[in-house]
Order: sequence, then structure tokens, then C-alpha cells
Amino acid sequence: MRSSDQRPSPRRPHLPAWSHEQPLEWMLWPPPAVSHARVEQELAQDAFRRVVGRFATGVTVITTRLDGVDHAMTVNSFTSVSLDPLLVLFCPDRRSRFHDVVLKAGVWGVSVLADTMESASSEFARRGRDLSRPLEGYGYRRGSLGVALLDGAVATLACRTSAVHDGGDHSIVVGSVVEMHSGAAETSPLLYYEGRYRRL
Ligand SMILES: Cc1cc2nc3c(=O)[nH]c(=O)nc-3n(C[C@H](O)[C@H](O)[C@H](O)COP(=O)(O)O)c2cc1C
Repeated sequence: MRSSDQRPSPRRPHLPAWSHEQPLEWMLWPPPAVSHARVEQELAQDAFRRVVGRFATGVTVITTRLDGVDHAMTVNSFTSVSLDPLLVLFCPDRRSRFHDVVLKAGVWGVSVLADTMESASSEFARRGRDLSRPLEGYGYRRGSLGVALLDGAVATLACRTSAVHDGGDHSIVVGSVVEMHSGAAETSPLLYYEGRYRRL
């Protein structure tokens, strides 16, 4: 080792020169500037995810069609809202590519997934997936609004957007139900709880 290597660096005055014995943290020097408020916010978000993850949900694939192209995204924020009129909602993340497409299209389909459809859920939740032919390999029929409704679903609905509300980093998209079907009686739903797929 050259003698100059042992001179303290002005940026790391109290650390010796690198060697294999150094702890990994040494390589992360200088630490990124993270404010106390930012750390608090991330801890609160982690806790929030854990708490709301204890609310068991079903899993849907929401589809839409814009300029003759199908789009689909896995969503568990779907819920029914009103009986008179018939209204449902879901909450797309503003940062997802699906968000602007579904708002522009104004129509969407809901396929409530059966417990045999976990792979469809994973596929339509994969960030950065190829959007050119999303439904290739999946059976579906077109609902009255032209949106795709997946074969094998426990239930399907076709909806027209009736309102969009601000929901922080998500939008709250409310839709009037135009068409609805129940799947075969023996199908059982796919569930999501504490970040994992479950079955009844
Ligand atoms: C079970 C499950 C439920 C999800 N629910 C939602 C949801 O309600 N809203 C949402 O925006 N993203 C939800 N996601 C994540 C999106 O599916 C995922 O971020 C999106 O497909 C990424 O697409 P992008 O590449 O266009 O960003 C869910 C994912 C899973 C696995």
C-alpha cells in the first residue's frame, strides 16, 4: 500500500483506506441526504400498507379499449357503491400507464377473478409489461361497451365512467353499470390478503 493511501481523505476524515475488512456501509459513504420527515413518511407508508393489507379483498382485472387497442390492469380497489343508480368504483394509480387510458376511454370492464386465475392477476400487475397485445393467450368476450371480459371470471361487469374524484396519488373512478353477469356457480374467487393470494 502506498503511503498516500493512508492519508485521511477530506470527505471521509475518520475512515481508513478501503480494504476487504471494511464493513459494507463504508462503501455507501457519504450517506444519501434523507431528511427526518422523509424517513417518517416512508415508515408511515409501510405501516399503512401493513394495516390496510389486513383488509381481505377479491382480485379483478379492469379492461378498457381505446382507439381499437385493449388495455388491462390488475386491481383490488374495486368495490360496489350504489344500488340506485347501479354504481361501482376502482382506484387506478395516477402513475400507472392504465390510468390515463381508462380515463380517456370512459368505458371499462371488470372481471372478478376465479381462484384458478392467479397467473392472469400476476401478468396484468407486472410493471412495464408489453402493452401491444395484452390479451393474447386469454379467452374473453366483448361486452356491450366493446370492452373485454375474461372467460372463467366469477363475475363480470361493463361500466361507463360517471365521475372521477381526486384520491391523492390515485384517482377514484366511479362507473355506471351497463351490463353484468355471474360466472358458473361452482367457480370460487381469488382473494388477496396481507400481500398474498389466498383461496376460500
Ligand atoms: C392484487 C393486486 C391488486 C392491485 N390493485 C391495484 C389497484 O387497485 N390500483 C392500482 O393502481 N394498482 C393496483 N395494483 C398494481 C397494478 O396492477 C400495477 O401497478 C400495474 O399493472 C403496473 O402497470 P404499469 O406498468 O402500467 O405501471 C394491484 C396489483 C396487485 C397484484
